[in-house]
Amino acid sequence: MKVLIVGAGGREHALAWKISQSPRVQQVFVAPGNAGTAGDAINVPIADTDKPALIQFAQENKIELVVVGPEAPLVDGLVDDMEAVGIRVFGPSKVAAELEGSKVFCKNLLHTADIPTASYQTFRSGDEASRYIKDRYSEPSDPVHVVVKADGLAAGKGVIVCSTRSEALEAIDRIASRREFGAAGNELIIEEKLIGQEASVLAITDGETIVTLPAAQDHKPAFDGDTGPNTGGMGAYCPTPIIDEEMMSRIEADVLVPVVHAMKRSRKPFKGVLYAGLMLTAAGPKVLEFNVRFGDPECQPLLMRLKTDLVDILEATVDGRLSELPSLEWDERPSICVVMASEGYPGSYEKGREITGLAKADEIENVKVFHAGTQLDDGRVVTHGGRVLGVTALGNSISNAKLQAYTAVKEIRWPGAWCRKDISDKALN
Ligand code: AMP
Ligand code: GLY
Repeated sequence: MKVLIVGAGGREHALAWKISQSPRVQQVFVAPGNAGTAGDAINVPIADTDKPALIQFAQENKIELVVVGPEAPLVDGLVDDMEAVGIRVFGPSKVAAELEGSKVFCKNLLHTADIPTASYQTFRSGDEASRYIKDRYSEPSDPVHVVVKADGLAAGKGVIVCSTRSEALEAIDRIASRREFGAAGNELIIEEKLIGQEASVLAITDGETIVTLPAAQDHKPAFDGDTGPNTGGMGAYCPTPIIDEEMMSRIEADVLVPVVHAMKRSRKPFKGVLYAGLMLTAAGPKVLEFNVRFGDPECQPLLMRLKTDLVDILEATVDGRLSELPSLEWDERPSICVVMASEGYPGSYEKGREITGLAKADEIENVKVFHAGTQLDDGRVVTHGGRVLGVTALGNSISNAKLQAYTAVKEIRWPGAWCRKDISDKALN
């Protein structure tokens, strides 16, 4: 069969790499893809938000399965529009994608379904939100323990963790007045700051059956020791020992099952990847957010370990027969993904710097270099984004996987390249 993957990041390269290994697949296309997907699949120069062009391509090329990687086209209803013309597509509908597209919708659903999450208030204006903070804290330097969030999609940047009254007021101003995140700031949330370790639990569901994947841990802050500004994710590893079997059962029972039921009850049945961002607090696991797609970079170490044919899983989800799918098979070995980034990221950065050493890095045993922000330029691979590569490795232990990944990182060079040096250390502590 022919498969089309929509997106251009590290997640999409991992999907293309894994899907092209399926004996049932003849051709994999990626729209628009990157320099890495050009090696493992065929790139199609269509933007991931260009719905008419994506639909036309899928029809003309008799694509039998479309996999939508990023959140923006999901929230924009690409799945609905494709299904309306009879294209088989993996991912949630527009209304179901609201779980990620609107934090207000998500928090209200969690509240109604009695799913553990931080206590919160929603606001329709910056003034209302500022008044709420001012009524509770009087001095600018008063310590506060709140997180201010823009309602809509903001590439992971619309969440501001605050420690003082002035920081909270500044965050409200950035979201509601200065409109740093555009229309995403039409509504705001102020919620309680939770303390604990974070983990990502991803599950695949057809709206009835839930198949949980091994837990992973992302590293959102830019620098070592979880310092610096938040990013899209600087690395991940899987499985994480901070979620044992008992904790996983609790997360399934208290979070995943009730969410899938609540979505069904509210006539927004969810099918696709349900990604719970969790804080493991002293009072148990609490939901920070939901994503409606594979995490990036979590997808890379997850797929590195998956032995089952991914196409079987995706098709069973689309066809609503996940309950018939045999248990998933995983490589016993843990995996880690180290993100190499452009100088300046997550702030502004230059593009077009030539990357060398990729072939040598890929030759290292149990290593796969997934491309994220790269592009082909006259046969050269050049940087084209903030997060450039996801160097991913398997190992007999987490420390061994870490050693393999960083050995490969050392082979790769471009001016200004950098990465965190402590990916997976939380597992070793
Ligand atoms: P989100 O996009 O909602 O996952 O938020 C991005 C990051 O902000 C999370 O990965 C956490 O590190 C942090 N964060 C979000 N909500 C909270 C909260 N209630 N308490 C503490 N940290 C939070
Ligand atoms: N790794 C976080 C995300 O995909 O949103």
